[in-house]
Amino acid sequence: MIPVKSLDWADTAPERALTLPARYFYDEEIFKAERERIFYPAWHCIGHVSELAEPGQFLTFDILDQTIVVLRGDDGQIRAFHNVCQHRGNRLLEARRGKLGSVLRCGYHSWCYGRDGGLKSAPRSERLPDFERKDYGLKGVRTEILGSFVFVNFDPDAAPLSEIGKGADAKMSAYLPDLANMTLIEEVDVVVPANWKIIMDNSIEGYHFGLSGPVHKELAALIEFNQYSLEAHDKWWTYIGPSKPDAAVAYGAPLDGATWQTDSFFNIGIWPNTTFYCFPFADLCGTFLMIPLGPEKSLLRFGYYGPKRPMPEVTKACIKWMNEKLGPEDIQLNVTQQRGLRSFGYNQGRYLIDPERSNESEHLVHHFHKLVHQAVHARG
Ligand code: FES
Ligand SMILES: [Fe+2]
Repeated sequence: MIPVKSLDWADTAPERALTLPARYFYDEEIFKAERERIFYPAWHCIGHVSELAEPGQFLTFDILDQTIVVLRGDDGQIRAFHNVCQHRGNRLLEARRGKLGSVLRCGYHSWCYGRDGGLKSAPRSERLPDFERKDYGLKGVRTEILGSFVFVNFDPDAAPLSEIGKGADAKMSAYLPDLANMTLIEEVDVVVPANWKIIMDNSIEGYHFGLSGPVHKELAALIEFNQYSLEAHDKWWTYIGPSKPDAAVAYGAPLDGATWQTDSFFNIGIWPNTTFYCFPFADLCGTFLMIPLGPEKSLLRFGYYGPKRPMPEVTKACIKWMNEKLGPEDIQLNVTQQRGLRSFGYNQGRYLIDPERSNESEHLVHHFHKLVHQAVHARG
């Protein structure tokens, strides 16, 4: 059943709008609609091109009931496939990343696929009439690259990422000059008992910076918070503030002698659930993916990528601070919000949206909810 449209929700001006009703954050039917209408047709960020630098290198990615493998062929092409054998549907690769031998072998009956996805051998298949290996290659999935990150999409009819993210690439290059030459530092997966949108909402407003926990105040102290600016561009959005020019210490480490990517706290979100960012004075690009596991459960994937040069102490301190301090402080807010939303005593509140769309305004949350609402209630 398609969820009933909440009357007039999307037609109300942001300043007057009530927040997206609570059930959007836990209802099974809405989650099913999001699966079909948001996640199956979405572009999903899999990893950085450097993780597929050599032929045979692969990345796998799981979302909902789907599993994908992206790999670099001997011809240098990056290709994506459904990560399932064409014999009886066995899942092929389990590891998140690695390098294949000369073939990708199914562990069940040993059908072997080349690095281009073609079926190379199938034991005893010579006994079959009319069996053509070419008919049983791995099933391909669309891929595109944005900002040196590899994305995939299951939907042959989805708009190209280059169209959806038009302008995002240039914005990333402007703030992250070493983007094309980064390598993975580490990836941290955290399962959060909260709806994926709760995590997104938290990340796209500055209202809570000075009002929630002490680590947020540490972050706010590193940026010119009054110049923090949050801008929507339909299917992508940015929230950026200049770093404090007179800072001497960040994340407990001295800045003296350090290098960093950008003189800003830079964040860019790509519909529906990908964020790239850089913290002030850190020499890295972070990825922040909110991968839904269920209506009230998400996998939060933190990727940290750095340029190919020695990592400054302040960058190491920043990653540790994100993993051990800011991340947990935000996740705690995600968890307590999720626990509140089922209350009989709550349905909708108000977005704190001011006319100036200031640093503390929740206009990006409203924008994001509008995209969700449109997608969930789309016809067809
Ligand atoms: S299911 Fe893969 S070889 Fe049989
Ligand atoms: Fe936060």
